[in-house]
Amino acid sequence: MAVQQTFSIIKPDATERNLVGKIIARFEEEGLRVVAIRKTQLSLREAEGFYAVHRERKFFGELCAYMASSPCVLLVLEGEDAVLRNREIMGATDPADAAPNTLRALYALDKGRNSVHGSDSPENAAIEIAYFFRGTELH
Ligand code: CMP
Repeated sequence: MAVQQTFSIIKPDATERNLVGKIIARFEEEGLRVVAIRKTQLSLREAEGFYAVHRERKFFGELCAYMASSPCVLLVLEGEDAVLRNREIMGATDPADAAPNTLRALYALDKGRNSVHGSDSPENAAIEIAYFFRGTELH
């Protein structure tokens, strides 16, 4: 195991329902440390750039419009095996498939409004962190 950084977004459905504190508390309880944090409302262009790998999917337009619809909280999390740990804490993309007590089982409304995003690999974590944060903002 190694100390890693991963990227997380607390999505509009969660910020709108005042779930920011509960979600961050869960990350900290699970041993992930917040090394950068920013609340922001993404522009449509920022959301399209972030999710560019999904641009051919039929849900791309809906996904980007949703992500730009209300503020998000952008987080860089650090800890042992942070990428995998964060994905375990989040649970499956679709809350209907998410394991009990995962963030998406607890809070997600549906596959699109699924409360949290997390990087799927260390390589993508580095790309996603660099999309939103400068190196000097990581503490
Ligand atoms: P996320 O981990 O942020 O990465 C891509 C997102 O696409 C995913 O979470 C879901 O919120 C979203 N997504 C995946 N499948 C669908 C779908 N069928 N309809 C709407 N959004 C989807």
